[in-house]
Amino acid sequence: MHDIKIRTERLLLRPLTIADAEDVFEWVSDERVARYMVYTTYTDIEQVRQWLAFVCQDASTYHFGFERLSDGKLIGSGDIGPDTKRDGWGFGYNLRYDSWGMGYATEAVRAMMRYAYESFGARKFASGHCEPNLASGNVMKKCGLHFTGYGTFQKLDGSCKMRSMEYEGYFDEAPR
Ligand SMILES: CC(C)(COP(=O)(O)OP(=O)(O)OC[C@H]1O[C@@H](n2cnc3c(N)ncnc32)[C@H](O)[C@@H]1OP(=O)(O)O)[C@@H](O)C(=O)NCCC(=O)NCCS
Repeated sequence: MHDIKIRTERLLLRPLTIADAEDVFEWVSDERVARYMVYTTYTDIEQVRQWLAFVCQDASTYHFGFERLSDGKLIGSGDIGPDTKRDGWGFGYNLRYDSWGMGYATEAVRAMMRYAYESFGARKFASGHCEPNLASGNVMKKCGLHFTGYGTFQKLDGSCKMRSMEYEGYFDEAPR
């Protein structure tokens, strides 16, 4: 687990811990949030504790909780790390439903990208989303990535397969 904290205008990006299980369960058990994520909708908080235990020892990826500065509420999470399949730094994110549409995802992703750029020399970033998930594509575009083509999305348990839209961006100055 890392101990990195990144402050943005409205968010604190900080490590996730087992103590976040109840907050995280609120959004991962929400079908509206889980629909286009690789995980299937969580039904038991114990599954969240297991995921958080994994996150806390995962050395290959930087996982962050997104805490809203105004009230200290954990409103989402995301991660960034080298993605060998996409040949660049990959990232992902999800927010609780009542926090959508306020620019928080864009703010958090930009901060994670800037961190990777400045701390690890990351220059190429790549990510993708399920074709109907246009809000996610807009986050990627607002963060400076461009559409490169279609791919395939599959949930981790194989329960859903559909076309994905793939994005990448090369940065020779820090993302902002
Ligand atoms: C995708 C998600 C993270 C976007 O978070 P967000 O904080 O609402 O995104 P932002 O507010 O930064 O908005 C990004 C852009 O998308 C636009 N947008 C929002 N909802 C949209 C929709 N349903 N369709 C098209 N565009 C949409 C916003 O208007 C914004 O553009 P603008 O600033 O030009 O208006 C959020 O909807 C979510 O958590 N979804 C469930 C999990 C998920 O799908 N994660 C991504 C998996 S690839």
